[in-house]
Amino acid sequence: MGTSEVVLQVLSGAAPRLLSSDIGSGFLDSTFSSRFLLKCTKKRASRYKQLFKCSNIVQNHIGVSRYMGLCSDSFGYNEVNKVQRLICKCQKAESLSGTIAADGNGTWFVDNAKTLNLNGVTKKPNILEFENVQQFEQENKGLASNGSVGTVRDTTSKTSVDSIEDEAWDLLRDSMVYYCGSPIGTIAANDPTSSNVLNYDQVFIRDFIPSGIAFLLKGEYDIVRNFILHTLQLQSWEKTMDCHSPGQGLMPASFKVRTVPLDGDDCATEEVLDPDFGEAAIGRVAPVDSGLWWIILLRAYGKCSGDLSVQERIDVQTGIKMILRLCLADGFDMFPTLLVTDGPCMIDRRMGIHGHPLEIQALFYSALLSAREMLAPEDGSADLIRALNNRLVALSFHIREYYWIDMRKLNEIYRYKTEEYSYDAVNKFNIYPDQIPPWLVEWMPNKGGYLIGNLQPAHMDFRFFSLGNLWSVVSSLATTDQSHAILDLIETKWSDLVADMPLKICYPALEGQEWQIITGSDPKNTPWSYHNGGSWPTLLWQLTVACIKMNRPEIAAKAVQVAEKRIARDKWPEYYDTKRARFIGKQSRLFQTWSIAGYLVAKLLLADPSAAKILITEEDSELVNAFSCMISANPRRKRGRKNPNKTYIV
Ligand code: GLC
Repeated sequence: MGTSEVVLQVLSGAAPRLLSSDIGSGFLDSTFSSRFLLKCTKKRASRYKQLFKCSNIVQNHIGVSRYMGLCSDSFGYNEVNKVQRLICKCQKAESLSGTIAADGNGTWFVDNAKTLNLNGVTKKPNILEFENVQQFEQENKGLASNGSVGTVRDTTSKTSVDSIEDEAWDLLRDSMVYYCGSPIGTIAANDPTSSNVLNYDQVFIRDFIPSGIAFLLKGEYDIVRNFILHTLQLQSWEKTMDCHSPGQGLMPASFKVRTVPLDGDDCATEEVLDPDFGEAAIGRVAPVDSGLWWIILLRAYGKCSGDLSVQERIDVQTGIKMILRLCLADGFDMFPTLLVTDGPCMIDRRMGIHGHPLEIQALFYSALLSAREMLAPEDGSADLIRALNNRLVALSFHIREYYWIDMRKLNEIYRYKTEEYSYDAVNKFNIYPDQIPPWLVEWMPNKGGYLIGNLQPAHMDFRFFSLGNLWSVVSSLATTDQSHAILDLIETKWSDLVADMPLKICYPALEGQEWQIITGSDPKNTPWSYHNGGSWPTLLWQLTVACIKMNRPEIAAKAVQVAEKRIARDKWPEYYDTKRARFIGKQSRLFQTWSIAGYLVAKLLLADPSAAKILITEEDSELVNAFSCMISANPRRKRGRKNPNKTYIV
């Protein structure tokens, strides 16, 4: 589809948006039209910004974010936190009564002593887990309490675990951000010890996903609905960096609720939403993952709440299409994978992942499948749906064939011939065998395998990236065999990937000259720290979904036990450092919301594994069909044979 066609379709597809939206519909008209009629100048854009607002005549009852924003200079943080707690507690009492159902299944620790019932399959707990429980109990007996963490310690592990969960829920609620009196997201970190807030006081799209899932699983749907609809409005924001605008459909990395004086009225203030699409972010990188996560959360919202009216709204349908059109737009690529710059996702600074990083491909695949489920059939979208279907098949083929690595494949690469100019080359990307890094020769287990981090001409990034691999399992981008092999690898390499705190963001770390060249000598990304082989507790929830999908929840349960030994005591850090994750990260925030929410989602899903279906996408038979046609048409297997029954044009 040509660009002009895309623009035209966006224009016509978006028009009904004027009629919709029950959130602030009064300002949608002018914002919408401003977006397409003209490129706004900075001045004009900031004038429109005022339209995304809600005026309040000194709304002192509003919320956490306003107190943070306005009071942090004059109050000590503790005072602020007290105020927040008070507010949140009141709100909790008012709005949540009746929704905080008792956890019928109890905690994993309790169930662990019995058996785990998963989708009708009863699993015996692993003997190791009992040892861990006992060790955990022993260690906890000796623990000094740290303020709010388990002030009354019981000798039973259940009480300890319950108090960790209770604390996590309190902290998660304290992190809620309000806009015009309604919750719309959670702040990235609420760390009273950090003097340099940077942008951790904002609502990040990717960080909110585990928060949103935790709220959905608790039956608290409003915050997720509000988040989805408000971020949708931000999607249309006109943003530029040095006179250049990113593509329409881009979702921001984060946003902040600002309280500003109301024009011409000294006593009144108003709240405005201020998004950051990367034009203010360190490194100025556009977040490719935001829109993909937004689609995934939208589907989860519908599945969990049963409220399909949100995804059926015309403005929401238009939002989905805008994201898809941005991702599916024609470019120079020979590959079906999305080509992105460095740092377009959770790893949001230079780490050598530019090109076709696995994490983005897995989220892309998941978002394509989710969108296909939600898009209303209509004549105007036929081309888009065709493009989407074609991309799904090509993408899964490409990743499964070319990103997969195990002992057998490694040996194949080791013996590759190079410089093959032909249509039926085996070594299509001209990979020189000398690229196989020495660590991998030792590290690759006989049983298990994984999807590599990136594939480019003459370059394979052999690092193991956790999120990309886990989400490939969750979304069925990996085959069933590959998915099991990924979990096998995590089990075999437990001491490298989980060690003292789950889960390594990637393995191994870049060191020495490689670190200098690839990260640009980034002092935050030193070896085994932060994105460079640091350990991130938030990844627990993605691990849990993947394990549940493959009917192996005991792996995730074991990782949760490891985290529970110290995560609350350490004040919920953003990440851990060192090879075995022994230290709290050098520059790690404390009370990082997605560490808290990630833990809660893992617990909730282990207690009710069937709930994971809101995130999982199963491979459908049409895709399998088309995929096998592609395999048989692959020149490497048999050149030139075309299957006449092929479902999709690839
Ligand atoms: C860091 C992380 C990023 C996260 C943000 C807010 O920049 O790298 O993934 O979204 O903090 O927590």
